[in-house]
Formats: sequence, C-alpha cells, structure tokens
Amino acid sequence: MTSFPIAKTDGIPLGKMIGVQIDGEKILVANVGGEYYAMRAICNHMGGPLDKGKLEDNVVTCPLHGSKWDVKTGNLVKFVRQLPPEPVFKVTVVGDQIFVEK
Ligand code: FES
Repeated sequence: MTSFPIAKTDGIPLGKMIGVQIDGEKILVANVGGEYYAMRAICNHMGGPLDKGKLEDNVVTCPLHGSKWDVKTGNLVKFVRQLPPEPVFKVTVVGDQIFVEK
C-alpha cells in the first residue's frame, strides 16, 4: 500500500470532485461535507467517466447512462439493473495535503 499525494485540500472545494490518475487507474476524489472519499472513476457499466459526472451529496451520477454511485462505499445506489460495486480507496489528510492509499 502506497500513499499518493493527489491534491491540496483547497483544490477540492466542498461538494466538488476531481479525477486523478493513480498507478495507471483513474480515480475520483470527492469532498462530501468536508470529508474526502476516493472511488474508481470508470463506471463498470460501459466505462463512463464518473469523475465527469454530477456529484450530489455522496452520490455521483454517471454522465453516460445515469447510474448512481455512493462515493463513500462504491456501492450502486440506482440503475436499471444491478452492477458490482466500484473499488474505494482510503483517503488521509496530513496538514493541507490529501493522500490516497492504493
Ligand atoms: S457507462 Fe455508466 S451508466 Fe453506462
């Protein structure tokens, strides 16, 4: 497990998310109520870029076909059919630096 520095805390404002490439994988990091959460950013339906979707509270909506995912757990919240969960990653903050463990 390695800690990757991905952004400063002021780089991800409240209610926003960013997409980052970590170790060859696209990951989104979201600020939900002042806490940061990291989840794989490639929708496992048909590869939609979840980091380009819409974030409302802890739920991100895929921009391609509208599946909804909980960025805290990686679980599917709503879609026309069941999909497996997305991997989530531990996030730590040291000072004003956000790290994702992978
Ligand atoms: S690719 Fe995300 S819902 Fe289809």
